[in-house]
Amino acid sequence: MAASREKFGRMGVILALAGSAIGLGNIWRFPYMVGEYGGAAFIIVYLAFAFLISLPAFLAESLIGRKAGKSTYDALESLAPGTKWKWLGLLAVLGAFIITSYYSVVGGWSLDFLARSVVRGFDSANPESAAAVFDRMTASTIEPLLAHALFLGFSCMIIVLGVKKGIDRFSKVCIPLLFVLIVAMMLFSLSLPGSKDGLDYLLKPDFSKLTPRGIACALGQSFFSMSIGMGVVLTYSSYMKKQQKILSTSVLTLIFDIFFAVISGFVVMPAVFSAGLRPEAGPSLVFESIPYIFAQMGAASPLLGRVMAIGFFLTILIAAITSEISMIESCVSMLMERLHWGRKKATWVIFCAALLLGCWCSLRSNVFSFCDFVSSNVFMMLGALAFTVFAGWKMERSALKAEFTNNGRLKLSSALFGGFYFLLKYLVPPAILVIFFTNLL
Ligand code: PFF
Repeated sequence: MAASREKFGRMGVILALAGSAIGLGNIWRFPYMVGEYGGAAFIIVYLAFAFLISLPAFLAESLIGRKAGKSTYDALESLAPGTKWKWLGLLAVLGAFIITSYYSVVGGWSLDFLARSVVRGFDSANPESAAAVFDRMTASTIEPLLAHALFLGFSCMIIVLGVKKGIDRFSKVCIPLLFVLIVAMMLFSLSLPGSKDGLDYLLKPDFSKLTPRGIACALGQSFFSMSIGMGVVLTYSSYMKKQQKILSTSVLTLIFDIFFAVISGFVVMPAVFSAGLRPEAGPSLVFESIPYIFAQMGAASPLLGRVMAIGFFLTILIAAITSEISMIESCVSMLMERLHWGRKKATWVIFCAALLLGCWCSLRSNVFSFCDFVSSNVFMMLGALAFTVFAGWKMERSALKAEFTNNGRLKLSSALFGGFYFLLKYLVPPAILVIFFTNLL
């Protein structure tokens, strides 16, 4: 069966992994956390974690996936037959399913706001009016549910098309487009009057704000942003060709992801400060403040304001879809392999289940928060721990090295393997445990 497994192209897999990494986490979560936990001080810790902990964890998951050439559950079963590791794989995929459901609710909001920007734009009268639009939208029953269903349905359609014709092709078009859009938005945002305060907020190091909680959040955010611990990296890597350089693919994904997060900060915060608003937690920030800013612009130049609003919500929407499809694929590919279902049937089942859980999240904010909390703080951490311990302690060093270096053919990877292996074995698992307990307490 492995021979008939679809494969990504060389660029396709990098863009698909980057597409999974770049998402709502970069646009709304990262800028807010930076401001909250000490600006540049947080960014320094974030970067250190990204390279020392997230990168080895990402590589571990990727190596398992490519070596096994199977989806999460079967990959662990085939590399460690008859053991309980596969159940941890199942847990990771369950986490991906939970995120799929509530993520698509937020994806629906961006679809809704994109439609609003196209149809009538936003009221420039005061900041509260943009917030009121958001509150009214989320408080109404039908509108967010419909948007959630449309967003999920569209993502599932890409999955039905398959790895090469669906995910690979969609990522190749959308990721370059995302970069053009976000850089254009940043240039605009930095040109707003008063944007300097936003830059200060992001870049002034304030080590007093860097609490243990902030440090734990930096790693949690880095894992979430790199889609680690959910079987997503594993599944995408199982479609990777054997001659692909796994180290450079992972480093490129990480660099794209960091670049996008930092640029998003330069889009959101200068605009927020320029409008005299205060940054606040959660997904509502970009929906409550950004429309107002564009509306204000629109007062001077209606066309420009409208175009910028459309550009911004289109960016969020595309970023959300490329992440959403990676989570759906993690679930779908496991169902296909485990239960011998066709792609269409597996996607339908995930669509219906995620639709229901997402509706519940949309209607009850405490369900939404609970899903966010358990998936990011429990499932994701346990998944990441399982994959790194599996690769570092369970797999043979020689087998892991062979996969890392393409059977010794890659000289640079061979030279760097020792460092990677050390981090994977001795730094990453304890770090995950510390963060796991800090988050739970
Ligand atoms: N990395 C995505 C983001 O930053 O928005 C979110 C995500 C995707 C989390 C896939 C987990 C996952 F498995």
